[in-house]
Amino acid sequence: MDKLVIEGGVPLSGEVSVSGAKNATLPILCASLLTAEPLAVAHVPHLHDVTTMLALLAQMGVTISTDEKLGVELAAARITGPVAPYDLVRTMRASVLVLGPLTARCGEARVSLPGGCAIGLRPVDQHIKGLQAMGAEIAIEHGYITARASRLKGARICLDLVTVTGTENLMMAATLASGATVIENAAREPEVVDLAKCLNAMGAKIQGAGSDVVMIEGVERLHGARHRVMPDRIETGTFLVAAAATGGEITLRDARPEILDAVLEKLREAGAQVTSGPDWIALKTNGALNSVSVRTAPYPAFPTDMQAQFMALNSVARGTALVTETVFENRFMHVQELKRLGADIEVEGNTAVVKGVAHLDGAGVMATDLRASASLVLAGLIARGTTTVDRVYHLDRGYERIEEKLSRLGARIKRVR
Ligand code: UD1
Repeated sequence: MDKLVIEGGVPLSGEVSVSGAKNATLPILCASLLTAEPLAVAHVPHLHDVTTMLALLAQMGVTISTDEKLGVELAAARITGPVAPYDLVRTMRASVLVLGPLTARCGEARVSLPGGCAIGLRPVDQHIKGLQAMGAEIAIEHGYITARASRLKGARICLDLVTVTGTENLMMAATLASGATVIENAAREPEVVDLAKCLNAMGAKIQGAGSDVVMIEGVERLHGARHRVMPDRIETGTFLVAAAATGGEITLRDARPEILDAVLEKLREAGAQVTSGPDWIALKTNGALNSVSVRTAPYPAFPTDMQAQFMALNSVARGTALVTETVFENRFMHVQELKRLGADIEVEGNTAVVKGVAHLDGAGVMATDLRASASLVLAGLIARGTTTVDRVYHLDRGYERIEEKLSRLGARIKRVR
């Protein structure tokens, strides 16, 4: 198993480009199931979750070709088996994104229930409720969701809570339904908008993506298209926090500042200087940072996927911060590990009280989930001495070549096997 070994204390400096967004890529790859014609996707990040999704689609009969320029072409001329088996779904919950497209295109789907997940229960009841509203018959048997429908019918769906992949699944299903679908209380995440753009390029009729009401006029069939995936706002935010917490100065290219307002605002509140143009963001710091309290909530509020990174930053900032997690019920597993480096954090319910300390000291730590791992890497960059982050495979699920990019910014980080 790979480990990352980090010699901390170097301020990051220089320029890096942001990769394509993982959370936009995964649903977009699934959109290929909706048409017999090829879908060409560009700016696909090289990530473990993407490889898993491609393996899942290939197993269903989708023909996949990749090029060296991060392009993937998918052709689902014939879907041989509309099934997502447990061994793939269990490693990546986003596999549930095949449920909507398969039901719409094939009239049937069998998708394993995701099962327990380290950061909370993460049920899929809203995905199921929406498909049922569109006329699908759903059964849960032997750990699998089985959906059947001769043709889905447009429906008005009001989601009980904001779910990103739930909104995406239902939006994809509705593109091929007969009649119009309205999704109320829809997720407004930029990745939902990117998926809608791709679907519209394929001939879908979607309006309102990015607001909390999405309207989809069903069509008979979709066709092939080309789409370039949006930049990853969480990778962007992670590098900005890394630069801020190490007292560095960096520029991120191929970034989209307008979808990171809540994060940039918090970095400014901490005392960092943030400037931006249409496709870049630069950050520099003048001295020590102030701690900043954050409360996670669906977009456009502060993202849960940036919570752990701000915890690392707050560990060495001036003052005390409250970090409140409202999206997932068990997303503080990095706390114990950060404490091993000397952080002063107490958890009370869904709030962590973080008292800034003068410095962290390197130690061996264990990654527990994707964003928790990122916070441990950041803590390693801040800490004095050597930090070893074990179970790096969590990080490889969502960050493209993180150690290469960080090295380019001057960090002393290497991967050991
Ligand atoms: C997506 C992102 C993930 C991010 C999360 C929240 C992808 C591939 N992943 O995950 O990185 O952390 O959004 O921004 O895009 N819930 C239910 N019933 C449902 C669906 C969700 O109760 O049917 C609950 C979940 O348990 C959770 C909350 O709703 O507490 C939000 O989950 P959701 O938005 O669905 O997260 P994902 O789409 O899985």
